[in-house]
Amino acid sequence: KLEPFVSINNVDYARDNYTNVTPKILSYLGRNLHREKYHPISFVKRRIENYFYKNFIGRRGNPMFSMHDNLNPVVSVESNFDNLLIPADHVSRQKGDCYYINKNYLLRAHTTAHQFDLIKMGLDHFIVTGDVYRRDEIDSTHFPVFHQSDAVRLFTREQLAAVAGHEIEPFELNGIENEEKQAQHTLEASKLIEKELKSTLLSLIFNIFGGEMPHRWVDVYFPFTHPSWELEIEHNGTWMEVLGCGVMRQDIIKRAGAGDRICWAFGMGLERLAMHLYKIPDIRLFWSKDSGFLSQFNVDDPNVNITYKPVSVYPQLTNDLSFWLPVDREYCSNDFYDLVRDIGGNIVEQINLVDEFRHPKTGKVSHCYRIVYRHMEKTLTQEEVNEVHFKLRQAVVDVLNGAVR
Ligand code: PHE
Repeated sequence: KLEPFVSINNVDYARDNYTNVTPKILSYLGRNLHREKYHPISFVKRRIENYFYKNFIGRRGNPMFSMHDNLNPVVSVESNFDNLLIPADHVSRQKGDCYYINKNYLLRAHTTAHQFDLIKMGLDHFIVTGDVYRRDEIDSTHFPVFHQSDAVRLFTREQLAAVAGHEIEPFELNGIENEEKQAQHTLEASKLIEKELKSTLLSLIFNIFGGEMPHRWVDVYFPFTHPSWELEIEHNGTWMEVLGCGVMRQDIIKRAGAGDRICWAFGMGLERLAMHLYKIPDIRLFWSKDSGFLSQFNVDDPNVNITYKPVSVYPQLTNDLSFWLPVDREYCSNDFYDLVRDIGGNIVEQINLVDEFRHPKTGKVSHCYRIVYRHMEKTLTQEEVNEVHFKLRQAVVDVLNGAVR
């Protein structure tokens, strides 16, 4: 028997004939991969944020863009669709495509859902990152939950002039819409925004990937921007779409109370970027809690180059090894790591120093290492691991002059 309410973060939403969220989908709400310290999704988020922190600096040396990564993924139908001029009969609103909580609320289908509200609050430059939800098949490139970063930059008349290098008129009365511009915009202003948007995005993408790469702009349609484009980059021999963008519909900005400004916006998918950046072959891996996956991203600097190494589907076996470090020669943990790789080869998945102890009287130091063994093609038995582990103990004595405890 279904409860009459769906409860999310201590708020009860009445069920109705729109309700199609499932407990499984709701279980993803707290994961926040984009805010996890050691995770490829949060690394991509931080690369984007750092790019804007570094390249867009306000008058007083302050960051120009504000960053928002903790907004509630439960949004109203107005926020997700109406305020963005998405028509009532648009396909993207269908129950078959979205996770509705009831007829008034849904799990956001894009982070663009926050743009109107943030502009209305008075923000001129901001980036929103969050988890988004779309009903979809599940395969190596599709998962019903993924992450996006959306950005908005509003230009006052003065800011536009500063970018152009001379005064330019943003608006015209009685203009007409064509492929290049909206009715309210002058062609000159629209072209300038397009140029500024595209150069910002290319510079951002090249910065994230550490260099230039083959790319192309594709003309597309979004209800909330015009003109609109997608940027595609080459990935595994085909073109992969990484972001959508455009000149924000002036009607939206006007309704949000900033009609004297002209604006660009973009939204990009973090999984796509992360898969390309780290060579992660399957979108489902981002949800892995397997330390074989997560430990590969255990670095403090989000700019570190990492190439993902496939993780075995077979179980791990964990063995510890403690020994007194040699006193008669230099020792560093890398000596041990090399030794383990020599002896254990491919069945060693991880090695971590888990404990360090200095004897209060003798001053001798002992290290305890945890070694995770795992085979790519079969389940290892404890006997097989024991054999390797025993050789390792012997080598610690023979090669490193350690005293196994
Ligand atoms: N919201 C769009 C999407 O999810 C991307 C987008 C954002 C396009 C902002 C234009 C402007 O595909």
